[in-house]
Amino acid sequence: MRIGILGSGLMGGKLGTIFARAGHEVIFSYARSEQKLNKLARDAKGKAKAGTPGDAARQADAVLLAVHWSRMDDVLRQAGDLSGKVVVSCSLPMNADDAALVVAHTSSGAEELAKKMPQARFVSAFNTVPSEVLFGVYAAKRKARRSRFGPSLVYCGDDPKGKKVAVELIRDVGFDPVDAGPLRIARYTEPFALLVAQLAYEGKGGPELAYRFERFDG
Ligand SMILES: NC(=O)c1ccc[n+]([C@@H]2O[C@H](COP(=O)([O-])OP(=O)(O)OC[C@H]3O[C@@H](n4cnc5c(N)ncnc54)[C@H](OP(=O)(O)O)[C@@H]3O)[C@@H](O)[C@H]2O)c1
Repeated sequence: MRIGILGSGLMGGKLGTIFARAGHEVIFSYARSEQKLNKLARDAKGKAKAGTPGDAARQADAVLLAVHWSRMDDVLRQAGDLSGKVVVSCSLPMNADDAALVVAHTSSGAEELAKKMPQARFVSAFNTVPSEVLFGVYAAKRKARRSRFGPSLVYCGDDPKGKKVAVELIRDVGFDPVDAGPLRIARYTEPFALLVAQLAYEGKGGPELAYRFERFDG
């Protein structure tokens, strides 16, 4: 797959690197310096290059949206038309000091974003884990190829093709995808992401925290 990374920071930089190492063609875009994008592309050691958000959106089959909420309108304006593209968003609707969700309860960041791009195949994924776990989960997957389950990763969306692509990407990283349902369920997964962050950053174990859901069958 060709994957455009819109926002090459903690999440986009790491996920793009993993996608490239998993064999996808990756275009890193949207950082404050071009040197950073070029370095990410070089260090990814796969088929990766740096580009503009417009390149990333035009050339890719799927894009990862990974910017702070305050940068969203800017990156989307630079990306241009996303019609028909699979858009996987890990972005949370955080306020300026990252202390609270600015959209919650009766809607979610994911639903508000999807309204801005009604022709895109929008999926919410990867926002319920701290970026610090991503390389570890990928390394664990490569070490134990035959083990069936990695940690869980919750995703949701209304577009079946978009969700299929998200499942492939989630598995590529080494997570076990958990389909939480339609996009409106992001109202519950986004606050859950804050719970995970709270446990990861304030808890004893530090940020390297992933979780696993098991069905209890009695
Ligand atoms: N980090 C996590 O563990 C985590 C977990 C779950 C969800 N999320 C969500 O994922 C999204 C991305 O988070 P993140 O932690 O990856 O953020 P980040 O590290 O700040 O990355 C955001 C990217 O946007 C770029 N950027 C910021 N301002 C810019 C500007 N004026 N012009 C061009 N580029 C600019 C940054 O450039 P530079 O690279 O030059 O700084 C960076 O590449 C957020 O919505 C966050 O809520 C993050």
